[in-house]
Amino acid sequence: MKRILLTGGTGYIGSHTAIELINKGYDVEILDNLFNSKITVLDKIEKLTGKRPKFYEVDLLDKEGMEKVFAEGHYDLVIHFAGLKAVAESVKNPLLYYKNNVSGTVNLLECMKEYGVKNIIFSSSATVYGQQKESRMVETMSTGNGITNPYGKTKFVIEEILKDVAAADETFSVVILRYFNPVGNHPSGLIGEDPNGIPNNLMPIIMKVYRGEIPELNIYGDDYQTPDGTCIRDYIHVVDLAKGHVAAAENMKSGVNIYNLGSGRGTSVKEMVDLFEKCSGKPLPHKIAERREGDLGELVAEPGKAEKELNWKTELTVEDAIRDTLAYLNNL
Ligand code: NAD
Ligand code: UFG
Repeated sequence: MKRILLTGGTGYIGSHTAIELINKGYDVEILDNLFNSKITVLDKIEKLTGKRPKFYEVDLLDKEGMEKVFAEGHYDLVIHFAGLKAVAESVKNPLLYYKNNVSGTVNLLECMKEYGVKNIIFSSSATVYGQQKESRMVETMSTGNGITNPYGKTKFVIEEILKDVAAADETFSVVILRYFNPVGNHPSGLIGEDPNGIPNNLMPIIMKVYRGEIPELNIYGDDYQTPDGTCIRDYIHVVDLAKGHVAAAENMKSGVNIYNLGSGRGTSVKEMVDLFEKCSGKPLPHKIAERREGDLGELVAEPGKAEKELNWKTELTVEDAIRDTLAYLNNL
């Protein structure tokens, strides 16, 4: 697995993964259409690793452009991060999400087939578990039932496509990584989550409140069946998440292998606000608001399979993520 193409590699998780892979000696190349990331990320990757990955500004939907990348690349493995990820936007514009995420992945898989690239690691999400009776997700649980938005459904559909492609070709290896809630950034504070536009996720919104760009945080609901009534999630430091991809690349096996990447520990929204206030030494304006449609009360990973088979587990805490987020904010 020496030569690796990262689709979406200038994005938040892709750029952190590029750093971990380069530091382990892999040859990393990046393909991205820069829809939700900036080309300057490459300078930062170079600064942090001493190597500048080759970059292709290509859209997954541009089949001709994609073919050129594969004709030059001779890749051993593709790590497929590229995709749109804004849940609310996907509800308003589902076709955009199916076209970009699903059709884009089909184009990618066709190129891989044409150029004999037999290994893929896919960025999936805990969202594929949909509605479950339990709050702790295990990889063997059913998927696809009660997913509340088109974004989440694209992840489920892509997982199914990957399973079908692997079933049709026994030399094809697939790893599906189901991320829980990625937070934080590289401890240097040089790169981080820097979405173009209005953020959707809790930590980027907290960052905007901290900087005074949003007046206050709305805590979506305090009447869930959780100890303090606010929603619980499994927040995973993005550097741990990035290392999970290195572990997956080092342990590629035939067939389809699915892993949760999470810490196994839950943190409520209120706890997150308290921790942020403690780490920053500044009050974070917030108020209780209505529940957000489609939110589950509690969603936490059972991370044992990744620990056993990939020899990977999280090492960093939510406090580490907040500390690194503050370093990034102070660098902006
Ligand atoms: P991101 O938006 O920072 O990165 C995605 C990158 O893909 C961006 O740089 C974007 O420009 C690129 N991209 C999008 N569509 C493209 C296309 N058609 N062609 C080429 N490039 C394209 O997002 P991220 O947080 O780094 O997420 C990476 C992957 O992980 C995504 O697939 C996302 O759905 C998945 N994921 C993210 C989270 C999360 O909370 N961040 C959780 C679960 C799963
Ligand atoms: N939250 C707030 N206020 C905000 C934003 C979020 O209280 O302004 C709460 C949410 O209600 C939720 C928690 O913070 O309880 C985390 O919300 P995020 O939007 O950051 O994350 P989600 O768990 O809702 O979403 C994540 C991924 C998606 C994925 C989804 C599936 O970001 O990619 O899990 O559950 F689809």
